[in-house]
Amino acid sequence: MSELEFKKISLNELDDNLLFALRIQDQEYFPTPWSEDGWRSSLASSDRYALYVVKDGMAIAGFSLFYLLGEDHLAHLQKIVVGPKYRRDGVAMKLMSIALDDLKSSGFAKFYLEVEHGNSAAKSLYQKLAFKLIRVSKNFYGAEKDAEIMMLSL
Ligand SMILES: CC(C)(COP(=O)(O)OP(=O)(O)OC[C@H]1O[C@@H](n2cnc3c(N)ncnc32)[C@H](O)[C@@H]1OP(=O)(O)O)[C@@H](O)C(=O)NCCC(=O)NCCS
Repeated sequence: MSELEFKKISLNELDDNLLFALRIQDQEYFPTPWSEDGWRSSLASSDRYALYVVKDGMAIAGFSLFYLLGEDHLAHLQKIVVGPKYRRDGVAMKLMSIALDDLKSSGFAKFYLEVEHGNSAAKSLYQKLAFKLIRVSKNFYGAEKDAEIMMLSL
């Protein structure tokens, strides 16, 4: 694998190519993907969203997106994806570690997320990062698809 670049993306770096790549991954891995306008308007409020991407040259190997509740020092992991050919190589661990360190240095102390009960890869990733299960939300993703709500305090 070539050298991957991990970086936080600001609005002025959100060009059409990047937006397209994010939307493809969003559509593939999330039950309610955002529209193009949704992406643009969300990321326009940079005090509310933090986006971190993993670049492999011109390609996007993965990304993570957090919704920020600065007044509560709380950040919500909304989406994280690593493309199939980059998986099981520590990319998500590094992506999350960089994001958590960056957000912590900006004053965020608590992080939470929802993960589908059957998503053992993601659950294992979050456990490795010391997220703890705080409750189960029944049918969160549809019939018989429960979400586990996990939290991390740093
Ligand atoms: C979950 C996901 C982001 C993990 O990305 P990744 O780069 O492969 O993860 P890493 O290589 O950094 O793995 C970190 C840890 O996560 C766990 N993990 C990752 N993939 C796993 C798998 N297929 N099975 C079991 N555990 C897994 C392991 O604990 C792993 O540590 P280890 O390698 O020391 O065993 C990736 O599989 C993905 O994008 N899935 C589809 C999107 C998704 O489900 N996102 C989460 C929504 S809540």
